[in-house]
Amino acid sequence: MIRSVVKGWGAYLPQRIVTNAELARQIDTSDEWITARTGIRERRIAAEGEFTSDLATHAATAALAKAGIAGDDVDLIVLATTTPDETFPATATAVQRRIGMTRGAAFDVQAVCSGFLFALATADNFIRLGQAQRALVIGAETMSRILDWEDRGTCVLFGDGAGAVVLEAAQGAGTADDRGILSSHLFSDGRLHDLLYVDGGPSTTQTAGHLRMEGREVFRHAVTNISAAIEAAHAANGLSSSAIDWFVPHQANARILDATARKVGVPTERVVLTIDRHGNTSAASVPLALVEAADDGRIKRGDLVLLEAMGGGLTWGSALIRW
Ligand code: ACO
Repeated sequence: MIRSVVKGWGAYLPQRIVTNAELARQIDTSDEWITARTGIRERRIAAEGEFTSDLATHAATAALAKAGIAGDDVDLIVLATTTPDETFPATATAVQRRIGMTRGAAFDVQAVCSGFLFALATADNFIRLGQAQRALVIGAETMSRILDWEDRGTCVLFGDGAGAVVLEAAQGAGTADDRGILSSHLFSDGRLHDLLYVDGGPSTTQTAGHLRMEGREVFRHAVTNISAAIEAAHAANGLSSSAIDWFVPHQANARILDATARKVGVPTERVVLTIDRHGNTSAASVPLALVEAADDGRIKRGDLVLLEAMGGGLTWGSALIRW
């Protein structure tokens, strides 16, 4: 059977670091509160005039270089974002133009913080059906642009950034020993819209709107839903948590990550954590963490890597990759 193998990876973070102390000078919060409740110490914020497509293009260019291929060798871009440059066209087409890709298709997917998992599953399905040979999967966000900077319950949580992987079709035996994406599981429940949404949009207010969240309720659903998505990944591959080399979760809150890792039985030293430095970068958080662990040599060829995320919608999902 055809598998989608990770051939390259790359990430980009804006230059500007905003610490908790800096936020505490602007709003009624403290480094102690943010660190204790979320594990976040600082986040990156995009510069004026620096757009989601800029972050995405940097990450994509690094991923292509790692894979040793050119933009025109790619025949599919799936870009996950909740903060596109414009309402249309897709931010993916801006990346397509800038990496010099002149064929195939480029489009965005929207699943908020689960976006990278949804984009990865989409690209994997295209590859396994033979409709694409090489795909760029990108998660890129400028969350700072849709935050209400007077709402201390949300503005301290998010950051900007981008991460990308290059997937390539390869033959596999159809077992869990194959390299590539072994499985992906996606879920959503539109009844939970009101827990996490943006209070604007082209069809409703003709504005971009601001992020609104019932943090405590989202937290409650997160551990249950993420654990179920992980169990689905294990069951589909006949594996248990003891087989997982690296757990790369969506970085929303260090307490959610701890509780989830405990519930599914992954030891802390196998969990990749970036939340302290990145905050929640929504669709960019999983690829940013993945790229950090691959670049510093933790994730090695042949390792079994478990990804998960949950976000607005609510949406959630998991993926198992043999690196
Ligand atoms: N600084 C200081 N105090 C604060 C801050 C702040 N930044 N924010 C809230 N508080 C106060 C509240 O006003 C409240 O005060 P009160 O008790 O006097 O009313 C108190 O702290 C507790 O507030 P809670 O909201 O109940 O705090 P909680 O422990 O639930 O932590 C948090 C809030 C961090 C948001 C947590 O609920 C959380 O992480 N939720 C999940 C978020 C998540 O997973 N999102 C994932 C998806 S994101 C996406 O898809 C875009």
